[in-house]
Amino acid sequence: MDKIKEYETAFEMYLDIPKDAVGAEIGVCKGWNAIQLFHITKPTKLYLCDVWRERHPNACLIEAPHLWEDDHRVLVGKLFEREIASNTVELHREYGGNFLYGLENDSLDWVYIDACHDYKSVKVELENALYKVKKGGLIMGHDYVTNCQVWKAGVIRAVNEFIQAGKIKMIGISLEKFPSYMCEVL
Ligand SMILES: C[S@@+](CC[C@H](N)C(=O)[O-])C[C@H]1O[C@@H](n2cnc3c(N)ncnc32)[C@H](O)[C@@H]1O
Repeated sequence: MDKIKEYETAFEMYLDIPKDAVGAEIGVCKGWNAIQLFHITKPTKLYLCDVWRERHPNACLIEAPHLWEDDHRVLVGKLFEREIASNTVELHREYGGNFLYGLENDSLDWVYIDACHDYKSVKVELENALYKVKKGGLIMGHDYVTNCQVWKAGVIRAVNEFIQAGKIKMIGISLEKFPSYMCEVL
């Protein structure tokens, strides 16, 4: 059985993402993690997808929605102004599942999912990501942990069910309070 690699932090994990590749982050918010992904992995193309909507009553991240769900598209647009102009970065204001569905099959080398963490949303994103990330590519995400008030076991259930179905293999996990996971597409 292959060992699952432990990383101190998600940023250390990002060092193992192939460089000069095509990647996507689903759930970008203010672009803080997108900056790390961009500068560590130096992608030839980075898709950044978020609904960037105003807060709404059904927001799943109810603990501090003002931190996550305001309209930060303009801010992210400024952060990546040069890269957007050179077509290296593309912003997509869309639901993660829909965005992934619209991509060409096998067009991504990796994806990092950190959007709505409820079971159904993560499941749809993983299902679509499986077609879009090449075999041997990476499906990663944040908050591989239970949260009894907000997303319950949504992320863990969805990811583990895909592992059990033999579609992805867990190859890395970060040792943070809110861990990131790294899976290889089989
Ligand atoms: C936890 S924040 C992302 C934080 C970001 N990855 C970072 O670390 O800098 C979650 C984001 O997901 C977005 N979001 C929520 N549901 C979504 C969905 N179904 N599709 C795309 N984005 C979604 C929210 O607007 C919010 O900005």
